Amino acid sequence: MEISRLDSRLPSPMPTTTTQSPSTLKAVMERARQQVDSALDRYLPAVEPEGQSACPARLAEAMRYSVQAGGKRLRPVLALLAAKACGASEADAMASACALEMVHTYSLIHDDLPAMDDDDLRRGRPTCHKAFDEATAILAGDALLTLAFEIVAKDTHPAPAAVRCIQILAEASGPMGMVGGQMADLEAEGRTDGTVERLEAIHRRKTGALLMAPLCMGAAVAQASVEVTQGLERYGRSIGLAFQIIDDLLDVQGDEAKLGKRAQKDSDLGKWTYPGLLGIQASRDKAQALADDAVKALAPLGEKAAVLRDLAWTLLERDR
Ligand code: IPE
Ligand code: IPE
Ligand code: MG
Ligand code: MG
Ligand code: MG
Repeated sequence: MEISRLDSRLPSPMPTTTTQSPSTLKAVMERARQQVDSALDRYLPAVEPEGQSACPARLAEAMRYSVQAGGKRLRPVLALLAAKACGASEADAMASACALEMVHTYSLIHDDLPAMDDDDLRRGRPTCHKAFDEATAILAGDALLTLAFEIVAKDTHPAPAAVRCIQILAEASGPMGMVGGQMADLEAEGRTDGTVERLEAIHRRKTGALLMAPLCMGAAVAQASVEVTQGLERYGRSIGLAFQIIDDLLDVQGDEAKLGKRAQKDSDLGKWTYPGLLGIQASRDKAQALADDAVKALAPLGEKAAVLRDLAWTLLERDR
């Protein structure tokens, strides 16, 4: 889904109950994306001649190269939308938003390494280890991960929400979250005993956790009620799994030029995927059911969740 494509033409699964016109959704997403990009630019270390900055120029360059390659910014945008739906300002959630994008980008840099998925193309550019080298890519990932926690600790408003946000981000990215899911994904490679239950557990950790985190962080910044927080958490949990199911489908059916990454690679690597285990149509149906569940979970927020609601449907139709 190119955010700029969150527009008109959609879609068979788009229900008639949407409240935002597609152009409103597109405009809201685009504005949030631009705010995130400006903030990321301020947070990332500058590329300065040797000796003039504590951050080596090559490291700063590699961090910027991968972050500023133009991802969809879904995770940070979700954090801003969640905070806003709960009555907080977007500015209060900006540190969390940028931290989420940094952790996500680090996960992509490492995911692409020869020791993992061994990919050459990411976000329409040579992967970080191709453009620089493996050591620099590993360190750029490490630096993005640690910088993420620094900015949440320093710049979360109100300050007491910082500890909660740090906990959410750590849980989502660590051994029980993304890193654990990546390990399980690699361990499953090439094995023929895959089941949908076990694949769901992998996808919920490797991808779902970092898509649920923005909703929880947005709610934490807004100090939302338990009911609202739980609704947002369930929304994030459902779109998180749906998002990886669509990613698996795009690997089979997507267009490499639009995706900005190699397609048709999962089966070569022996990855467990939804289309591989369930087939195309059942995978689409599962993603649709998850989007439906996500929308139901927004009930406690009423009309304040209109953008989040429409976004859930639109994610089903993404082409990147
Ligand atoms: C790709 O994530 C990796 C997955 C977790 C499926 P995105 O599809 O959000 O990638 P970018 O950020 O837009 O590049
Ligand atoms: C990636 O899953 C999940 C993370 C990066 C944590 P994939 O390996 O399917 O993502 P792509 O297809 O390379 O973007
Ligand atoms: Mg992978
Ligand atoms: Mg990969
Ligand atoms: Mg994939």
